[in-house]
Amino acid sequence: SDPLRLGIAGLGTVGAGVVKIVRQKAALLEARTGRRIEIVAVSARNRDKDRGVPLTQYAWEDDPVKLATRDDVDVFVELMGGSDGPAKAATEAALKAGKDVVTANKALLAHHGQALAELAETEGRVLRFEAAVAGGIPVIKALTEGLAGNEIVRVLGVMNGTCNYILTRMEDGGLTYEEAFAEADGLGYLEADPQLDVGGIDAGHKLSLLAAIAYGTQVDFASVELEGIGRVAIEDIRQAADMGYRIKLLGVSRMTGRGLEQSMAPCLVPATSPLGQLTGGTNMVVIEGDQVGQIVMRGAGAGEGPTASAVLGDVLDIARGTRLSTFGMPATLLKKAKAARATTP
Ligand code: HSE
Repeated sequence: SDPLRLGIAGLGTVGAGVVKIVRQKAALLEARTGRRIEIVAVSARNRDKDRGVPLTQYAWEDDPVKLATRDDVDVFVELMGGSDGPAKAATEAALKAGKDVVTANKALLAHHGQALAELAETEGRVLRFEAAVAGGIPVIKALTEGLAGNEIVRVLGVMNGTCNYILTRMEDGGLTYEEAFAEADGLGYLEADPQLDVGGIDAGHKLSLLAAIAYGTQVDFASVELEGIGRVAIEDIRQAADMGYRIKLLGVSRMTGRGLEQSMAPCLVPATSPLGQLTGGTNMVVIEGDQVGQIVMRGAGAGEGPTASAVLGDVLDIARGTRLSTFGMPATLLKKAKAARATTP
């Protein structure tokens, strides 16, 4: 059958990772889907940068909108980031030009997910974003497919690896917040705007996406009660430890009789619990379904391999012919959520 032809915009860590997998695992990917996965064109801000992977065989576009609308592109893979600007313009252009879209862009989806999902539906296209939430952990697939027979009662977890790294270094290494932040910076963990990480915004974006999928509501990032880790002091961590607790930037969402609760804030968790044991730049998502009970998923929430893994999962689903919509149900059926004030978990 015909190859599935990709246009990839954004060649940072994740983009380069996707190119590597497509190049190195071509036979495996074809065996799994019955279709050859081909990269036809790429786009990034800097053409000359060495990304550790050969790119000369692919067409180059300076303009991501041009890339997204090329006749020879079937799937537009958006790995640029940013809630507006070129990422949004190119994603919209791709859908309007009849392309399916795979994106890792949590900020874009948190702000425009509903409109984009409706556009995808109007155009009869698929928009997928597994890589936008908890990196390599296939939590969206779990909610929309494996757990589709459940009513979801609660979704919670640690969804920003950078904050978890900083808190862990303060706890185990005795570092101050400033020292741990500088260390995370040195390791290249921080988003271009670090406030997205330490302000809890990035994790809040992810939580709002999971909540929409879990409860069949429209994405409502604005109603997430948000508090970052900037005010967590070493004394807080010591006091928590004395009582047998650790401090985690924990996201919690649940549907109550009063409406949807979503909060992302530093919380005390028992040191011996799975969440308390989660150290370093790792993510953990806990899902509670009315039939299945509690499921715990743990893994890398960022980085080249893990995030590219999630992108490929979406690409391969499209190669297999999925028409499963972004939120597990038609966007037009998603309800406007009534926001309720969150209570401490
Ligand atoms: N800054 C994010 C994190 C990257 O630390 O988890 C992955 O979305």
